[in-house]
Amino acid sequence: EKGGFDSFMEKEIHEQPAAVRDTLMGRFDEKGNLTLDELKIDDSILRSIDKIIVVACGTAAYAGQVARYAIEHWCRIPTEVELAHEFRYRDPIVNEKTLVVSLSQSGETMDTLMAVRHAQEQGAKVVSICNTTGSTLPRESDAALYTHAGPEIAVASTKAFLSQIAAAYLLGLYLAQLRGNMYKDEIQSVLKELQAMPEKIQAILDNEQQIKDLGIEMKDSDSVLFLGRHVGFPVALEGALKLKEIAYIHAEGFAAGELKHGPIALVEEGQPIFVVVPSPRGRDSLHSKVVSNIQEVRARGAVTIVIAEEGDSTVEPYSNHIIRYPQCPTLLQPLLATVPLQIFACALSGAKGLDVDQPRNLAKSVTVE
Ligand code: M6R
Repeated sequence: EKGGFDSFMEKEIHEQPAAVRDTLMGRFDEKGNLTLDELKIDDSILRSIDKIIVVACGTAAYAGQVARYAIEHWCRIPTEVELAHEFRYRDPIVNEKTLVVSLSQSGETMDTLMAVRHAQEQGAKVVSICNTTGSTLPRESDAALYTHAGPEIAVASTKAFLSQIAAAYLLGLYLAQLRGNMYKDEIQSVLKELQAMPEKIQAILDNEQQIKDLGIEMKDSDSVLFLGRHVGFPVALEGALKLKEIAYIHAEGFAAGELKHGPIALVEEGQPIFVVVPSPRGRDSLHSKVVSNIQEVRARGAVTIVIAEEGDSTVEPYSNHIIRYPQCPTLLQPLLATVPLQIFACALSGAKGLDVDQPRNLAKSVTVE
């Protein structure tokens, strides 16, 4: 049932091209226009939304953080991402013009459910992006967008993360289309790029041996850091969470810009640091800032594992290891850059002889508050 893989996690990592393809499938008409028939909320309401709040926990919340960059950019709607268990206790400002988007693989996470109920009591409309058909969150929401990633068995979420990002992006593009924030050809070009992602994810999987070897080589590390900027920041957080969860290694993700505000004090000789580098073809200041961050940590003895776009040679002088991802627009990069981090954690956990699929102290869905 593990399809020849050593763990469900490994199998699910390899299912990601199909998972993303299935998330995108059936959401276009013959002309290639985006159609989200499931979004059963009146267009007039969706046009009047003046704030989006994404509520989720764990990996799903990182998917929300990624989606925020895209939604704000495309729709110009202020978007907050809130851990569901913090949301309720903050006395949040929610009303009929707020769209709450819940993200949940299981659809049964109690904290997320309570956040949704709290928002509904205050008049908000709720869309739930969910992987499990008929689960509680989509049932209680005004609309459900299913990710169609297929069952996720491993406790550590992988394919659900990529599918959540893809689904949230469809939602963002749909709102932009409805509200007239983007030209039709702009939307079509993002959709085309999105549809090219499964093949690009597959290209990373085809080169996984390099990353697996690195995981095995680094199995005795006692601390690993992850840096990223912009959408690379939540990717760094996700990379760190995977390592904590299944390899029991102290791991932290930072916004690379925070380094000099504290975390750089942690860097000493031999400290492994993953750095997620954006495309050099995107906003150049973003790329060059991250390259300077790699230099800064390297100068202090860090072992740098750099995740960079194919053809980006600027990172070479400062990298101990380079992992390549195929060229893609910055906003879509999380769908690629996350994959090596998953493979790394999975291989390292296996090399330590741990139970990759059932890490200690954790349950697949957290149905208590
Ligand atoms: O089922 P959900 O997506 O609501 O679960 C949320 C988190 O519990 C979940 O993502 C958790 O953080 C994973 N174990 C991460 O790998």
